Amino acid sequence: MADPTFAHVPRHVAIIMDGNGRWAQQRGLPRVEGHRRGVETVRKTIETARDFGIEYLTLYAFSVENWRRPEDEVGALMNLLEYFLKKETKTLIKNRVRLRTIGRTQDLPAKVRRELDRTIEATADFTEHTLVLALNYGSRTEVVDAAQSFAAAVQSGEISPDDKSWEAFARRLYTHDIPDPDLVIRTSGETRVSNFLLLQAAYAEFVFLPSFWPDFSRDEFAQAIEEFNRRERRFGRTGDQLTAAAAPVSGAS
Ligand code: FPP
Repeated sequence: MADPTFAHVPRHVAIIMDGNGRWAQQRGLPRVEGHRRGVETVRKTIETARDFGIEYLTLYAFSVENWRRPEDEVGALMNLLEYFLKKETKTLIKNRVRLRTIGRTQDLPAKVRRELDRTIEATADFTEHTLVLALNYGSRTEVVDAAQSFAAAVQSGEISPDDKSWEAFARRLYTHDIPDPDLVIRTSGETRVSNFLLLQAAYAEFVFLPSFWPDFSRDEFAQAIEEFNRRERRFGRTGDQLTAAAAPVSGAS
């Protein structure tokens, strides 16, 4: 099937991959089977994002709150992550996709950190496409970490205590070198943000889809981008201002 053409391709798409557990439960399977199928969707979605020309794809793979799940489910998710990195690094290299992470990755199991370091290093030179895995991520812990780093920089004289700019603070976020998401997608019919990129998504468009993550398809990804294209992004301006800015200047030759 030919790739769809979009009027505007969002530069950064961030996805809350939800519904693995319900997908499995509906089929009488253990929840872990849903996560296993979810990894397959992760693999396909990275490829689709690349085909669509999306520069940054962020996937919410493990939140700071996810440690509250049963120990065996947390263990299974960590194993899947390790397996994914071991297996997919070759493909990331072939497709020239750089891997980045956001979150307190220092608190992940050593075997996962080791694979992350390997893949990050092996893909560090690629610039066209970036896969950002949000791991042990939460916006509130990100703000705490950024505030601590900001305070230390003020104390050392690197930042002036009078610097009240957003840019100075944003440089302390995990996402300091990643553009804000244009589009945030959540699967599974839930319409929550769940502590995900709360500051970075200040002007993002949100699309909520009914499918469970293992069923998220290339077509649905395309539909979400079509929906994004139907939205009018005003960034605080009025609709009339946007129309005037887009209209050709009258009398100009
Ligand atoms: C939400 O479904 C999904 C997660 C908490 C984990 C997402 C993880 C993967 C897709 C696999 C590992 C990731 C990578 C990048 C290899 P849920 O369990 O909350 O579903 P439910 O709401 O139906 O219970």
